[in-house]
Amino acid sequence: RQSTYPSREPVQTNRTICPAQMPGRYNAIHSGTPWMDQRGLPVSAHGGGIVKVGDTYYLFGEAHRDMTNAFAGFNCYSSNDLINWRFESVALPVQRSGPLGPETVGERPKVMRSPTTGEFVMFMHVDSIDYRAQYVGYATARTVTGPYTFQGPLLFDGKPIRKWDMGAFKDKDGAGYVLLHGGDIYRLANDYRSVRDHTNKAMTDGFESPALFRKGDLYYFLGSNLTGWERNDNYYFTATSLSGPWTRRGSIAPEGTLTWNSQTTFVLPVEGDRGTTYMFMGDRWSYPRQASAATYVWQPLVVEGDKLAMPVYRDAWRIDLVRGTVAPTSMAAGTITGKDRRVRFTGSWRHEMAGRSAHHVSDDRRASFSVTFSGTQATLYSALRPDGGYAHITVRDRRGASMVSSTVDMYSKNPVAGVTFVTPVLPRGTYTITASVVGDGWYWLNKKGERSGSAGHAISFERLDVRR
Ligand code: GLA
Repeated sequence: RQSTYPSREPVQTNRTICPAQMPGRYNAIHSGTPWMDQRGLPVSAHGGGIVKVGDTYYLFGEAHRDMTNAFAGFNCYSSNDLINWRFESVALPVQRSGPLGPETVGERPKVMRSPTTGEFVMFMHVDSIDYRAQYVGYATARTVTGPYTFQGPLLFDGKPIRKWDMGAFKDKDGAGYVLLHGGDIYRLANDYRSVRDHTNKAMTDGFESPALFRKGDLYYFLGSNLTGWERNDNYYFTATSLSGPWTRRGSIAPEGTLTWNSQTTFVLPVEGDRGTTYMFMGDRWSYPRQASAATYVWQPLVVEGDKLAMPVYRDAWRIDLVRGTVAPTSMAAGTITGKDRRVRFTGSWRHEMAGRSAHHVSDDRRASFSVTFSGTQATLYSALRPDGGYAHITVRDRRGASMVSSTVDMYSKNPVAGVTFVTPVLPRGTYTITASVVGDGWYWLNKKGERSGSAGHAISFERLDVRR
């Protein structure tokens, strides 16, 4: 299948670009910011995983709608650089009725290709809307982008596996495994359509969003604590055999960063002729605006012996796919802070410090800020706060035509400064980025009725970095 994704050369144009013609085009992997696909829509593929076919990476994940947790289908995107994602298909749509019909839960799709049948098999968490009827389900397709046919529960000894968070792992010998929260591992039959044996029994409580990869002879098993959509310090185990014994190790990212505000979903090894980059893929959930404001945290893992780490948070990075190494990205040319004349505030704003971040903050529902910049790309830094909320963002050209619009989430349980929005690469010009207070923040009530999420709906401005 030929990719028709536009090249990464700047768009040369002297006509007005209408938003539908302005695809998302980036030159780095950005974390914690909405990514636009070739249609200008946010990439919605959460709890996902990647499968490579030829030179193309296919990302599968949960489609979401805002304001509901109900199953919205599983999306498939493709990329040749792990940076720009092209929407391919709704690989598994909401079924007319049944366990993945309307008002159900479907999560964490993972696709693997059976080496014996060549069939693509998708595994997923199937549940009722109240999370009380879970099992591992599967769907199959002859082509990677689908459409996939839902086949019902994956059976072991004739019975469904009644667990919720799941993941998948394909070993070097082609054997496929399904991973469950708590640490259970099931080995699939060769056709990946049923389970052959129960390779590893759960070794802990919680340990949600299981993800596993192998480096040399060592297996690394990553998972999160049990805090619903709220982020926590994810941790990992290591073992020389999938059947254990598994040794519990520490946190994946520095303690208190809550895994750089994300929950693990998958690790993608990218092998080149100079090495392998192990890419951590996490979700920064944002209930109830998961479609527009949940983002991805993709970071290179440092893997040394039985140590796994993400010591620094990279705002922008990329992988040299030939070498398999982390490649540098060029830096922005200029910075516009809140004192600059090019920044305009409307409504009431306060100047505050949160940690080391000096920023302007507002929870006035009529408040907004606008920054006019000249260049090809802008990166917005904000203070992410425990009372942070949603900002509506638009980027307009000099004629007022909207180039991109988006919702971003400025919440973090622990205050931290960070990138909340990156424009796609634009034709060199003068633009105005405007962010306004939406008036709510993310929150979630778990099964026990406990609330997590933001205490408010504040938005903030720290600075705008501009690339010439
Ligand atoms: C955890 C799981 C997600 C989802 C939410 C719902 O975060 O990992 O897949 O089920 O809980 O609260």
